[in-house]
Amino acid sequence: MSSTEPGVQLGPVMCVVGARPNFMKMAPILRALAGHHPAIPMLLVHTGQHYDKDMSDKLFEDLRLPRPDINLEVGSASHAVQTAEVMRRFEPLLDTHRPSCVVVVGDVNSTLACTLVAVKKGVPVAHVEAGLRSFDRAMPEEINRILTDQVADRLYTTERSAEDNLAREGIPADRVCFAGNVMIDSVVFGRTHARDPAQTLHACGVASSILSHPRGYGVVTLHRPSNVDHPETLRALLETLGEVASRLPLVFALHPRTRGNIEKFDCAALIDPARMVLLPPQGYLEMLGLMADATVVLTDSGGLQEETTALGVPCLTLRENTERPITVSQGTNILVGRDRGAILQGVDDILAGQGKRGRVPELWDGHAAERIAADLWQWLTEPANQTPRA
Ligand code: UD1
Repeated sequence: MSSTEPGVQLGPVMCVVGARPNFMKMAPILRALAGHHPAIPMLLVHTGQHYDKDMSDKLFEDLRLPRPDINLEVGSASHAVQTAEVMRRFEPLLDTHRPSCVVVVGDVNSTLACTLVAVKKGVPVAHVEAGLRSFDRAMPEEINRILTDQVADRLYTTERSAEDNLAREGIPADRVCFAGNVMIDSVVFGRTHARDPAQTLHACGVASSILSHPRGYGVVTLHRPSNVDHPETLRALLETLGEVASRLPLVFALHPRTRGNIEKFDCAALIDPARMVLLPPQGYLEMLGLMADATVVLTDSGGLQEETTALGVPCLTLRENTERPITVSQGTNILVGRDRGAILQGVDDILAGQGKRGRVPELWDGHAAERIAADLWQWLTEPANQTPRA
């Protein structure tokens, strides 16, 4: 589909999603492209990096994402094979559909894979959530971020520190646009439809009485390879979470990687089901409801750090670093790493009413995607950007 606006012949904007954290970023962008005047033609490509109903289909429903126009069905594999497979299957789409640009979000393997293919074929790439850096190159996502930003043509940032990071890496400022945070557009959109936590537990066959503890409850998610792929690390973290659960009950939404490793490393006995309930990966609206009412969120997710800041809920991040420093400097986030003492101290402070209150950062206002659509339209229709790159 091409734009029919008089004088403007625009091929479709090809929007790429692959893994769970992409979906809540892309949903508002698609709505904003459709709502732009004139409407911006688009195609949605799902690489299939995440494919389980829980990890993908349910989120599409909750976020009102349209069915992907194309699903590449790459599935799970090593980083190299997964990235290569996305590249191999994505390339022919550019010849068939002749997009005006490719829009990628975040930092997953699909983000980098599609970016590499597009730039090498002279198709411009816009990267949403550009410039975030953890400065930890052992994280696969950090490599994906750095490389995507180096070759993308238009970079949309969520916080000011990202602009500094990009400048330091030699990226010209005129390629960068501070648009705000599309993840928070989805929080604003979903907030009123968030599912009641008691219903969520009920739907999973778990008694909701755990939510009525006088101190409330905590929400846990863990999936980073650095936290869950080594038996001693996972065991120590589960032991610490057990101690947290003796202070307030925990609801632990399990990523498939984590569930698999708990079984593989024979750690299930460390979990007391009376104090820590295990749930399958949750839908977007279930997770939003669970987080919004929580006393504390303990996580290693990037997205949850931002969502808790937007919701004003205290967050303890079980990592040594964050690529989203504004959640610490302005929001409700505290980095506690894997240190037992720091985690328990963080929880005790929150229970004593000394959790961080924080404030919502600049341009995390529910309108980031509209700013991106407006900028993208202007950028794509500039005559200088119509010429394919050499
Ligand atoms: C990916 C992203 C990570 C993101 C996370 C959110 C990269 C490098 N990592 O990590 O940034 O925070 O998604 O979830 O892109 N699996 C299933 N069903 C699925 C998908 C995965 O069972 O639908 C299992 C498979 O055993 C797979 C493992 O989870 O091997 C890991 O999946 P993968 O996509 O490789 O990475 P994530 O850990 O999910």
